Amino acid sequence: MKSNFSRREALKRIGLGSAAVTVGAIGVVNASSKEGIDTQYIEEEEKQPLNFDQPITAIVLGAGGRGNVYAGYALENPKELNIIGVAEPIKYRRDNFSKSHNISENNQFTTWEHVFERPKFADAVIITTPDALHYGPAMKAIEMGYDVLLEKAIAQSWDECYDILKQQRKYGKIVGICHVLRYAPYFVKMKEIIDSGKIGEVVSVQHFEPVEHIHMSHSFVRGNWGNSKKSTPMILSKSCHDTDIIRWLVGKPCKKVSSFGSLKLFKPENAPKGSTKRCTDGCTVERECPFSAIKVYAERKSFLHHLKLENHDTDSTMELLKTSPYGRCVYHCDNDVVDHQVVNMQFEDDITASFSMEGLTSYGGRRTRIMGTMGDIVGDMDSMTVFDFRTREQKHWTAKDINDGIYAGHGHGGGDMRLARDFVRAVKLQDPTQLTSTIEASMESHLIGFQAEKSRLKGGKVLDVNLKV
Ligand SMILES: NC(=O)c1ccc[n+]([C@@H]2O[C@H](COP(=O)([O-])OP(=O)(O)OC[C@H]3O[C@@H](n4cnc5c(N)ncnc54)[C@H](O)[C@@H]3O)[C@@H](O)[C@H]2O)c1
Repeated sequence: MKSNFSRREALKRIGLGSAAVTVGAIGVVNASSKEGIDTQYIEEEEKQPLNFDQPITAIVLGAGGRGNVYAGYALENPKELNIIGVAEPIKYRRDNFSKSHNISENNQFTTWEHVFERPKFADAVIITTPDALHYGPAMKAIEMGYDVLLEKAIAQSWDECYDILKQQRKYGKIVGICHVLRYAPYFVKMKEIIDSGKIGEVVSVQHFEPVEHIHMSHSFVRGNWGNSKKSTPMILSKSCHDTDIIRWLVGKPCKKVSSFGSLKLFKPENAPKGSTKRCTDGCTVERECPFSAIKVYAERKSFLHHLKLENHDTDSTMELLKTSPYGRCVYHCDNDVVDHQVVNMQFEDDITASFSMEGLTSYGGRRTRIMGTMGDIVGDMDSMTVFDFRTREQKHWTAKDINDGIYAGHGHGGGDMRLARDFVRAVKLQDPTQLTSTIEASMESHLIGFQAEKSRLKGGKVLDVNLKV
C-alpha cells in the first residue's frame, strides 16, 4: 500500500516522531514493519545531530560552479561549516565568493599553490579546480594535514589516482570523492532495495546516460572537458559517476571490461558549407545550426556559468563570444572526446553490466534497469518501479516520494548537499565511514574508466580490471 503522507509524518505514525534515527551510514526506516506502508522513506538526514560547538573550517580551491555548490552548504549551515579561505584566479569570482563567505583579504589567493605556502590554517580543503589541477593540490593538502573533499575525476591517470590513495594512507587523512550520486536519495533507495534482497541476487545491470546535445556541445566540445589531454576521457570526466554507481549498486568487484565508441559528429569534416571558425564570424548557416553559440548563450542565455563574464547581458555575451572558447564553431574546436560510447562490464559471480553514454539526445538524466533472480527495478531518476516475481507485486515511487525532505531541489537529486553534509560530519567526527565515497571506495570506478578507455582505443579488446591497491 502506498502512503500519501510525508516522511516525517510517517515517522511520527510509527512512533519515532522527529527523533534522530541513525541506521548505519545510510539510515533507512522500514515503515512497513509498523504500519504496513511501503519502505519509502529515506531518513539519512535524521542522523544524530552533531554538537557543533565550533564549525569546521575549510578552504575552497576553485570558486567556480562546483566550489560554490559545496560552499553553499556553509551558507545554509553556518554552525557546521565555515569557509575561511579561497584560491581562484578569476578576480570577480574570487571577490564574489569572498564576499559571500566573508573571507578576510589575507585568506584570498589567486592560485592553489599560494594556499600551501602558509602553515595549515583550516581543517579541510575543498578541491574544485579543473581536472588537470586535482593531483597537485590533493597531494599537497594531504601532506600538510588537511582533510580533503576532491572533485571527480580523482586525477588524470590511474597512476596519479593511486598516488593520491597512497598519500591518503600515509597521512591518514579523510579524502572524500565527489561521487554525488551515491548520496542522492533515489540511488540510495535503489541500493537499499538491492541490498534488502527484494529482487533476489543481482544478475545484470543496464545503465544509460543521455547527456543532452547542447550540454554535450557546451561541456564536451567547446568547454573544459572537450579535450582528453587537458581533462580526462569522457568515460572519466562525465561517466565516472556512472561506472561508480554501477559498481556501488552491484556491490562486487569488476573483473573485465570492453568498450566501443567514437567522436561521430563534432569534427571539422562535418562542418556545414558556409560555416566559419566562430559563430560570430558571419557563419551563413548559424540560424539553422542547433549548436549556434549565439542561440545557446546570447539568446537563450543557457549554460552561461562557465563563461568568464560577470554580467550576462546580450551585448557583453556577444562580445565575449568573439574570443571565448564558447564562441567557437562546434566543428572547429580542439575536442577529441567521444560523443557516444558503450561499455560492457563483467563483475564477480557472473554479474554483467552494460553502460551507454549518448551525447546526441534531446534529454538528460540517467536511466537504470537492475535485473535480479527474483525481481527487477526500472528507474529514470524521476520514478522507480520494483517488480517482485514471487508475489507479482509492483511498487512504484516518484522522486518526490523518495526525496521530499531537505535538499530535494538541489543538484544531482539532492546528492550534492548530502555529500557536503556527510563530509562535514566525517571531518568533525574524524570518521571516514560517514562517507560512502572515500577515495578507497572510489578507486575501482576510475580503474573501470581507465581500462574502458584503453579498450576503446584498442578496438574493444576485453581487458582485466581486478583492482589491487
Ligand atoms: N561531481 C560532479 O557532479 C561534477 C559536476 C561538474 C564538474 N565536476 C568537476 O568539478 C571540477 C570543477 O568543475 P566546475 O564545473 O566547477 O568548473 P569551473 O570552471 O566552473 O570551476 C573551476 C574553477 O577553478 C578555477 N581555477 C583554475 N585554475 C586554478 C588555480 N590554479 N587555482 C585555483 N583555482 C583555479 C577556475 O578559474 C574556475 O573558477 C572539475 O574537476 C569537474 O570535472 C564535478
